[in-house]
Amino acid sequence: MINSVLWILLLLESDLIDAVNVSGKEGVKVTLPTGLTELPSGTIISWSFPLSRSDLFDNIALLNAGVIKTDYSRKFKDRLKLDTQTGSLTIRNLTINDSGLYKILIINTQSSSKIAKLTVYASVSAPHISHSVDSPFEKVSCSLVCTVKNGREVILTWYRGEKIFNQTSSPDLLANLSLPLELNKRNIDNYSCEASNPADSKPTPLNIEMLCPQLSSRSALTEFGSTSNRPHNRKPRVTMPVGDIYWYLASGTGGIYLIDAVNVSGKEGMKATLPTGLTELSSGTIIAWFFPLSRSDSFDNIALLNAGVVTTDYSRKFKDRLKLDSQTGSLTIRNLTINNSGLYKILIINTQSSSKIAKLTVYASVSAPHISHSVDSPFEKVSCSLVCTVKNGREVILSWYRGEEIFNQTSSPDLLANLSLPLELNKRNVDTYSCEASNPADSKRTPLNIEILCPQLSSRSALTESGPNPVAFALVTLLAVGIINGWNILGS
Ligand SMILES: *[C@@H]1O[C@H](CO)[C@@H](O)[C@H](O)[C@H]1NC(C)=O
Ligand SMILES: *[C@@H]1O[C@H](CO)[C@@H](O)[C@H](O)[C@H]1NC(C)=O
Ligand SMILES: *[C@@H]1O[C@H](CO)[C@@H](O)[C@H](O)[C@H]1NC(C)=O
Ligand SMILES: *[C@@H]1O[C@H](CO)[C@@H](O)[C@H](O)[C@H]1NC(C)=O
Ligand SMILES: *[C@@H]1O[C@H](CO)[C@@H](O)[C@H](O)[C@H]1NC(C)=O
Ligand SMILES: *[C@@H]1O[C@H](CO)[C@@H](O)[C@H](O)[C@H]1NC(C)=O
Ligand SMILES: *[C@@H]1O[C@H](CO)[C@@H](O)[C@H](O)[C@H]1NC(C)=O
Ligand SMILES: *[C@@H]1O[C@H](CO)[C@@H](O)[C@H](O)[C@H]1NC(C)=O
Ligand SMILES: *[C@@H]1O[C@H](CO)[C@@H](O)[C@H](O)[C@H]1NC(C)=O
Ligand SMILES: *[C@@H]1O[C@H](CO)[C@@H](O)[C@H](O)[C@H]1NC(C)=O
Ligand SMILES: *[C@@H]1O[C@H](CO)[C@@H](O)[C@H](O)[C@H]1NC(C)=O
Repeated sequence: MINSVLWILLLLESDLIDAVNVSGKEGVKVTLPTGLTELPSGTIISWSFPLSRSDLFDNIALLNAGVIKTDYSRKFKDRLKLDTQTGSLTIRNLTINDSGLYKILIINTQSSSKIAKLTVYASVSAPHISHSVDSPFEKVSCSLVCTVKNGREVILTWYRGEKIFNQTSSPDLLANLSLPLELNKRNIDNYSCEASNPADSKPTPLNIEMLCPQLSSRSALTEFGSTSNRPHNRKPRVTMPVGDIYWYLASGTGGIYLIDAVNVSGKEGMKATLPTGLTELSSGTIIAWFFPLSRSDSFDNIALLNAGVVTTDYSRKFKDRLKLDSQTGSLTIRNLTINNSGLYKILIINTQSSSKIAKLTVYASVSAPHISHSVDSPFEKVSCSLVCTVKNGREVILSWYRGEEIFNQTSSPDLLANLSLPLELNKRNVDTYSCEASNPADSKRTPLNIEILCPQLSSRSALTESGPNPVAFALVTLLAVGIINGWNILGS
């Protein structure tokens, strides 16, 4: 029993939360790491990036059976290098347009998918320091301004020595960034102005002797016992060094996956097929199925289709019970047990790559319900009190049917108590009844034999209900006869 469903493909929110953030600079190279230091033999690594649509990941690099393929896309032509030791991907000669989410699928005995978020920044320009306005106190103070061309995440900072003195940034990328600095004889020091983004920084030291000669006189400088004209030798302040990263491992079976899961139900002892949503596989497609065997939050490989070869002997738990269809990639599990219930993950890699979840629920068979008298009714001559009972189980529903319509229904989360549902019959509602126990994978129906359980209702007279009531008719007749007799007595 397979609920037919629509696969919803998307990037899971949890993936984004766990994404590794990498920043790079236009024209140089960056390496997107896998977080692995070595790959067990047979590992398949697939890198993908949204080339055609923002919500689809197109394969851009693949490591399979020791062979690397990186010529999937013109956009990345000759700029990719996949490291066979670690699986990491290096992109050369970055452009701003290489910014975005990169997805990596790692398949060996377990599987994982990760997201690396790459932001490519343009180089920043060197800031320019100039006089701002002629100050009225130009003899004792000096008004300066530092300006730079704005850009993505550019910050303009005045440093006093090694300390940040003032800072500005603006979302308006078309206007220049500018930051004033007011100097007087009391605050002479080493100043510099720096423009930076997360991938680049350019400092411009303030040459106080040239721009503010009135302050840089020997008298002013000796005040602090310092000379200010030595060149700065500070390391650029890049807030996020290129390629400096930290993997947050995917949290695995987060609830977010379940929203998009395909739900499949199966019955103990029978088989169930977990679909891929595909009707045919393009040649070279890799299909990998996973199930949490060892831990509830990690997916172990249970079946693989690679280069036309199907492997299903990964686990003892599923021994000889798996069949991977090489036409559609779907996975059939035979002789289901309750313990096969859970989340199955599928990875599909061809020119695009996707991962999906199928949720399998295996139900036990339901028992046949039992119909019996409930209690001795005080009106047992004109009504019949019945009760239908069945052994409860996962998602079992007990229903009374009148004809083919559901008449009453019950269920209970208490799996140890029996389910039971009463039915009260009288001569007015005699009909065909049956009691059914069902779960999403099985159902058993017991018809009500009204002639055996409620003979008082099943008499011929009861069934001719729609004609004149013979009892009432007889009473009226008797009364009428009595009245006539009375009249006769009075009259005689
Ligand atoms: C990466 O950046 C996103 C925001 O862009 C943030 O939510 C996430 O926590 C960052 N990840 C790491 C590992 O710093
Ligand atoms: C880098 O890319 C630019 C265009 O994006 C191209 O003009 C230039 O030749 C490339 N440089 C190298 C070394 O590949
Ligand atoms: C980036 O993409 C835009 C629009 O898609 C395009 O106009 C521009 O030339 C691209 N820049 C580079 C460096 O590839
Ligand atoms: C920092 O710059 C702002 C203008 O951008 C200015 O109003 C403020 O006084 C400056 N702070 C210091 C400590 O110079
Ligand atoms: C930004 O500054 C440059 C010189 O540094 C100047 O040529 C340009 O006109 C300025 N642009 C704006 C929008 O102020
Ligand atoms: C300015 O910088 C130079 C070298 O970086 C240093 O020797 C000097 O002490 C600094 N002056 C002050 C006032 O911090
Ligand atoms: C599958 O079942 C879960 C609850 O178990 C539900 O949230 C989800 O919407 C269902 N998916 C489909 C496609 O019906
Ligand atoms: C089905 O599985 C049960 C145990 O889970 C086993 O006893 C039985 O032999 C299996 N039947 C078939 C046909 O494989
Ligand atoms: C299911 O798992 C439980 C505990 O892990 C085990 O006791 C039981 O025998 C298993 N049932 C089947 C049918 O494999
Ligand atoms: C359905 O069953 C409940 C008891 O489970 C009973 O109270 C109710 O009257 C029944 N409804 C009908 C229409 O018989
Ligand atoms: C459930 O019903 C069965 C008979 O159908 C009976 O043997 C059993 O004792 C009942 N169990 C409970 C908990 O009422």
